Amino acid sequence: MKRQKVAVIGTGYIGVVHIEQLLRLPSAELVGVTDKNQTLAAEVAGRFGIRRVYASAEEILADPAVEVVHNCTPNNLHFSLNKQALLADKHVLSEKPLALSAAESGELTRLAQQRGLTTGINFCYRYYPVVQDAAVRVARGDIGAVYNILGHYLQDWLLYPTDYTWRLDPKMAGASNIVADLGSHWCDLAQFISGLKITEVMAELRTILPIRKRPKHGATLTFAVAADIAQEDVPVSLDEYGAMLLRFENGVNGTFTTSQLAAGRKCNIDIQVYGAKGSLAWNHERSAELWLGHRNEPNQIFFESPNLQAESTRRYAKLPSGHPMGHMDAVLNLFGDFYGAIALRQARRPVTYRYPNFEAGHDEMRVLEAAIASRKSGTWAKVG
Ligand SMILES: NC(=O)c1ccc[n+]([C@@H]2O[C@H](COP(=O)([O-])OP(=O)(O)OC[C@H]3O[C@@H](n4cnc5c(N)ncnc54)[C@H](O)[C@@H]3O)[C@@H](O)[C@H]2O)c1
Repeated sequence: MKRQKVAVIGTGYIGVVHIEQLLRLPSAELVGVTDKNQTLAAEVAGRFGIRRVYASAEEILADPAVEVVHNCTPNNLHFSLNKQALLADKHVLSEKPLALSAAESGELTRLAQQRGLTTGINFCYRYYPVVQDAAVRVARGDIGAVYNILGHYLQDWLLYPTDYTWRLDPKMAGASNIVADLGSHWCDLAQFISGLKITEVMAELRTILPIRKRPKHGATLTFAVAADIAQEDVPVSLDEYGAMLLRFENGVNGTFTTSQLAAGRKCNIDIQVYGAKGSLAWNHERSAELWLGHRNEPNQIFFESPNLQAESTRRYAKLPSGHPMGHMDAVLNLFGDFYGAIALRQARRPVTYRYPNFEAGHDEMRVLEAAIASRKSGTWAKVG
C-alpha cells in the first residue's frame, strides 16, 4: 500500500488529535508539522517523534514531497490555506467550518473538483459505528418515512464570564460561534443519517454573556484553563446559544438546540429520528449504543458490533462486540475513509461509500448562512 506523505498545520487541541490518528493509520506517513507558535510545534513534534518542524504553513505548501495537508488552524485561516493547498496540488483534510462564507466554501469545492483532488472535512461524529449503522437503517426503510429529526448539542466550557476562546472573536471565528462550531456537526449528522438536506431554517441565536474576561497576554488553547493570569473585559456579540427550526427535503421537520453554557453538559450530542414505522436515537454520552424505538413491541438498544451491524458498516466497529470504541477511533475511521478515497481515486476505482468531503462542508456553510440571515430577519431563511 502506498503511504501518503502528510503534514499538519496547527498543533493546538485538534491538531494533536489529527497527529495521534495519523500515526495509527497505515496509509499515511506524517512527515512534518507547523504552528504559528513554533515552540508548541517543536514540543508536539518531539512528543510524537515527528521528523520535521516546518517554519510556516507556506513552507509546507511549497514542499513537493507533501501530498496531503491537514488544516487544523482557527476558522479564519481555513479558506486561504485550503485554497493555497489545492493550488499547490495537495489533497486537503480541513477542520470545520470549511470557510467563513458559502461563497468561499463553494469556491473551494469547485477548485478541488477542477483539480481532481480529494478533500475531507472532520465531521467526526458520523464515524461512530452505530451512527453509520443508523444511516443504513434509515436508508433501507427500517423506520419508514422520516417525519421529524430532533436534537441538541450542549457543552458547558463557556459557562463563566472568565471563560474565553478565539471562537468568540468574529475576526477569527467568522459570523458565528456556536452554530458554526457545534451546529455544523449536528446538521451534518442529521443530514447524513436521514439522507435529507436541510432546505430552510428559522433561527434564534443569542449572546448570553455580552462581556467576558479575556487573557491579556496571548491566547489560550481550546479547553485550556486560564488561571491566575491578567484579564481584560471584552464585548461579545457572537452566538453562545442557538435554537433552530428546520425544514428538510420531503416535508420533514426538525428542531435543534445548542448552548455552551449548559452546566454539566460536556459534549452532549443528541439526535432522534422519528419515522412512520419506528424511530432511532443516539447520544454521544453513550456513543456505542443506538436506541431503537417501537410502538407495539419493546424498545431495543443496539450495541456497536463488527458482527451484527449492516455489512457495509462493520469495518467501522474495529473491536470485538462489547468493547466500546471512542472519539479518537471515530476520527481514525474518518481518516481511513479519506485516505481510502485518495487510494481508490488514484487507482481510478469508484468510491462507493459516503465520506465528508468539501461538498459536505459547503452544505453546512449554506445552512449556517441561512441561520445567520434568519437571526437578522426574524423569519424563515432558505438554504441558498
Ligand atoms: N472536528 C472537531 O470535532 C473539532 C474539534 C475541535 C476543533 N475543531 C476545529 O479545529 C480548528 C482549530 O481548533 P482548536 O480547538 O484546535 O484551536 P486551538 O486554538 O487549540 O489550536 C489552533 C492552533 O492553530 C495555530 N495557528 C494559528 N494560526 C496559524 C498559522 N498561520 N499557521 C500555523 N498555525 C497557526 C495556533 O497557534 C494554535 O496552536 C477550528 O477551526 C475548530 O473549529 C474541530
